[in-house]
Formats: sequence, structure tokens, C-alpha cells
Amino acid sequence: MLYKHVLKPILFKFDPEAVHDFFTDTGELLGTTHLSRTAIDLAYGYHGPDISRTVDGIRYRTPFLLSAGFDYDGHLTRILPHIGLGGEEIGSVTARPCEGNAKPRLTRLKESESILVNKGLRNEGVDAVIARLKSVPMESIGGIGFVAGISIARTNDAASVPIQAGIEDYVYSFKRLNEESVGDYYTINISCPNSFGGEAFTTPELLERLLTAIKAIPCTRPVYVKMPINLPWEQFNALLRIIDAKGLNGVVIGNLNKDYDSLDVRAEAPASYRGGLSGKPCTHPSTDLIYKTREVYGKRFTIIGVGGVMSPATAMEKFDAGADLVQLITGLIFEGPGLIKQICKAEAARKNK
Ligand SMILES: Cc1cc2nc3c(=O)[nH]c(=O)nc-3n(C[C@H](O)[C@H](O)[C@H](O)COP(=O)(O)O)c2cc1C
Repeated sequence: MLYKHVLKPILFKFDPEAVHDFFTDTGELLGTTHLSRTAIDLAYGYHGPDISRTVDGIRYRTPFLLSAGFDYDGHLTRILPHIGLGGEEIGSVTARPCEGNAKPRLTRLKESESILVNKGLRNEGVDAVIARLKSVPMESIGGIGFVAGISIARTNDAASVPIQAGIEDYVYSFKRLNEESVGDYYTINISCPNSFGGEAFTTPELLERLLTAIKAIPCTRPVYVKMPINLPWEQFNALLRIIDAKGLNGVVIGNLNKDYDSLDVRAEAPASYRGGLSGKPCTHPSTDLIYKTREVYGKRFTIIGVGGVMSPATAMEKFDAGADLVQLITGLIFEGPGLIKQICKAEAARKNK
């Protein structure tokens, strides 16, 4: 209530990226002391019946995670467990540091409950993120069952556009994370819609080359692929067949929606805008693809469902469609941190039916 009716109207008057940076700085600060973590936990923590899940051998205290793109440099691992989250996907990180695309690169589409994202993979680079995560006291992450997955993308610059250079870019980050034993699982993000060279690895041939290179690196943790959500099923399924053949653990379904016609209020995003849509326009495309993937592949894949989780009901729809875990970002921005506790309660009620 406090967030939706008092804070949000104020925050939504400011530049979205400035608000995002403010939340990252504040969240990092709040994570540093026992007192502030406890205070946040009292307000936003989930302490109801057990809703933990074990997926690919990893225990999640709650099956709800912050999706990639919010905590891209890994500043928030100490505070996020205290708002009911069972984990987060840090990143996407890239081999080299990346400033991102020109500003403005985030636009709120209030009526459509969406954010137009043209961030361009701003991050400090994999080595800086590894150093930061290694410096966080582990009892504040693993000790309370909080899972830190890491999303890996290709550096958003001209040097990584040639295919072999792009593969080497992913491989560098994947190798470094494994060498340093940082991250509980890894996601290979092939579907960032707003970077140099586009979504090169969303064809079966190039995905095969990329995953062959990734599989050549010793890794004991689960590996997933972050999928695009605008491909027709036949093309989407062709990518799933490669992921299956290469023996990866599963898929994150999925990334931003590139179809501006799916907005509730089309006029909020003129054709001259650049970037992908988060939030409500993602709800149905992602849930449909989760359903079809589960139907065709049974239990073969772990499915992490993400896209347009704006309420407890839309989170439960992801499970009903076949997701094992659920991620979100935009719902948190529009509804506030209290949304996670509500979703956890809905999951507890669903389990007890
Ligand atoms: C500001 C912002 C930045 C994002 N950056 C990334 C990213 O770096 N890597 C990635 O895999 N997905 C990224 N995404 C996509 C989200 O992880 C998610 O797939 C998408 O927003 C749909 O979920 P939502 O409707 O809950 O926001 C980003 C989304 C937002 C809103």
C-alpha cells in the first residue's frame, strides 16, 4: 500500500534509470547491517508454510527469483533474500565492461504496465562481478538458501560481432565463472534484443556452435538458455532441439517482447522507439511457450518462467503452464516489493489445496 499509493507516484515522476540506480544503492546499503536486513525482513520477508523447491539439485527457499537485468553487477545479494525471494539472476554479465546504449534507454509505459528496455547490457564486466561476489560474506547468501544464478551475454560492442569472436566472448565469461566457482547456476542469454550484432545465436546452426563451445568447458552447475519469445513455435522448437541434443538443463522463457502491437496502449511506444517490452505484454507469449515446451518435452527441461508476472495470479499461471521456478522484474517496479510476499502466500495456499 505504502509503495503503490505513496512512493510509486513520486518515483514515477523521475527518470527510470535514476530510480533504478537509487534502489540499487539503497538496497546494497540496507544489506550491509543485520539491523537493516532484519527491518526489511519484518516488513517484506516471507515466513509462512514451506514453499521451498529443489530444482537441478539446488534448493530455493521460495521458487521466486529476481530476473536478469535489475542487479546486473551483483550488488543486492544480501538484501534480496529478505523480501521473500529465493534467488536472483545476476547480470547479464559480459566478457568486457559495457557502458550500454545511449540514454534514455528505459521508458515507462504506464498505461500498458510495461517498460521499454534499450539498456544494451550495461555492466562492469565478468571479472569485476566475480570480485564483488567473492567479497560478499557467504553466510548471507548460501546460508539462508538464497540462490545466485548468473546470466551471461555477449559484450555489446563491435569487436564481439563476428561469430567466432562472439562465441569466444561468451566462453570467456563462462570459463572465468567456473574457474572461480562463482554462481549457483548459469544462463546463456541469446535473446538480448538491443545490442550490437542483434540476436545472432537464435538460429539452430549458430546456437549449436555456441553450445558446443560452452559444453567443452568443465562445469558442475546447471546451465540454462534464455529464450526469445517472438519466434514462431517451429523456430522456437528448433532451438529447443539443439538445447536438448547438447544436454543443457533447461530454458528460461523468456526475454523481452519486440512486438509493439501487443501493448494495451499502442500509442505509448511509437515505431521510432527502440528496445524490447517488459511486463504485461510478455505475460501471454511467455506463458504459451512454457506450456508448449512442457507439453512437447515433458520433464526433459527445467523451465524458468518469466514475463509479465504482475500479480499472484499471473505467477501461478506460470506454474500451471509448467514452470519449475518463476522470475520477475517489472511486477516489482509497478507493484512494489510487497508483491513477492503476496505471491509466496498464493503459492502456499496452492500447495495446501
Ligand atoms: C531494465 C531491464 C533490463 C533487462 N536486462 C536484461 C539482461 O541484461 N539480461 C536478460 O537476460 N534479460 C534482461 N531483461 C529481461 C528480463 O530479465 C525479463 O526477461 C523481462 O523483463 C520479462 O520479465 P518482467 O515482465 O517480469 O520484467 C531486462 C529487463 C528489464 C526490465
